[in-house]
Amino acid sequence: MNRAVFMVAVAVLLLVASLAGAAGKVSLPKGYEKWEKSKEKVVSDKNSLFYGIHYTYVDKKAWPAFKSGGKYPEGSRFVVVFYNIREEGGKPVRGKKNMIVLMEKNRKYAETGGWLFAGYGPDGKPSAVDPVKNCFECHLKEAKGTDYVISKYADFR
Ligand code: HEC
Repeated sequence: MNRAVFMVAVAVLLLVASLAGAAGKVSLPKGYEKWEKSKEKVVSDKNSLFYGIHYTYVDKKAWPAFKSGGKYPEGSRFVVVFYNIREEGGKPVRGKKNMIVLMEKNRKYAETGGWLFAGYGPDGKPSAVDPVKNCFECHLKEAKGTDYVISKYADFR
């Protein structure tokens, strides 16, 4: 899959849902770069939705539950920042930032397991997302037993 096709895939993930009338826009938390940060993750499978390089950030509220497992307290937040892949001397290195996603624990969003799911462009502007179809269905399938959080503590240490 070339970069153009990848960008189309991202656009589909983030924009198609505008037709369905996406939920209210929530802005990206400030200062997430200072939260606990995962190791770099490279997904080089060009057929994967996550093709690229990404980092996950976990805030202070979420950290204890993330470490030990179990339910997350209200307000817990995760942010993932995605970059394109550039080849440099045969090695994958970070290209341009292409999207950001957020999960925030909030009981108002019962439809999506008590988490707000939101997507943003590289500039941090909210994108229209259908949180059930574009996000939760996959998190439900992958991580029912860990309060819908897929990342592992081992990705951080
Ligand atoms: C096809 C499956 C799939 C879809 C669809 C999906 N995710 Fe994820 N998500 C994942 C996987 C897999 C990870 C773990 C990535 C890693 O290993 O670093 C993840 C991780 C995350 C994380 C970090 C916390 C966690 O659960 O590990 C956030 C935040 C997140 N996704 C938000 C979203 C949002 C918002 C959407 C919708 C715009 C979305 N995701 C759509 C599979 C998916």
